[in-house]
Amino acid sequence: RCSDRINVAIDGPAGAGKSTVARKVAEQLGYVYIDTGAMYRAVTLAANRAGIDPGEQDRLKELVEVLNIRLAPGENGQMVFLNEEDVTSEIRSRDVTQHVSQVASHESVRIRLVELQRQLAAARGIVMDGRDIGTHVLPDAELKIFLTASVHIRALRRYQELKDRTGVSLEQLEAEIAGRDLSDEQREISPLVCAKDAIRIDSSELTIEQVVALIQELGRTKLAEA
Ligand code: DC
Repeated sequence: RCSDRINVAIDGPAGAGKSTVARKVAEQLGYVYIDTGAMYRAVTLAANRAGIDPGEQDRLKELVEVLNIRLAPGENGQMVFLNEEDVTSEIRSRDVTQHVSQVASHESVRIRLVELQRQLAAARGIVMDGRDIGTHVLPDAELKIFLTASVHIRALRRYQELKDRTGVSLEQLEAEIAGRDLSDEQREISPLVCAKDAIRIDSSELTIEQVVALIQELGRTKLAEA
């Protein structure tokens, strides 16, 4: 196959730096960045607003069938629209964060979003981040990265990112992250696992720039082979 564009899949647990890294890699390669976690967050926000409990499988199934989720590049990264309403910042609220893992565990939700993700990737030249991109969404992605970092480091990064730290401690964040890891790793459908052909990068002791440079280099090698 001869191609001038590849697809890059970046998977890993919450807080490993996936979205920042993926956005920068996409920028440097001139590719489109797709944050799939934002899609699960948008569904969760819609469910919260509609008063649907994250455990209500049937109502969630009906909800995703009528939802319109649109991603668009913005000045400060990817923008997310829910039925054409800009929800880019609202999907980062703690309320959404606390429920998203359970919402994402439902098969009907995943089937619908994976379908959307595959459509977005069909033209190639995308960098997609998530939990199941290399294993399930884009098994043919030319470059697969599994980005990790220790729970402590990930909690520390989240803590430093938080603008409003009232009412949340580092220990609490560590517990939340560990809990989310566990439910993402143990769910029946598309659990978070490192794909056999993925390259594992531990970012605990690397800067964002170092990780980006590493992936970019791997991308160039894959492009030369494609
Ligand atoms: O990366 P994030 O924190 O925005 O992801 C939010 C949640 O969505 C997280 O609990 C895992 C889930 N998710 C998923 O199940 N599959 C994906 N491809 C992306 C995210």
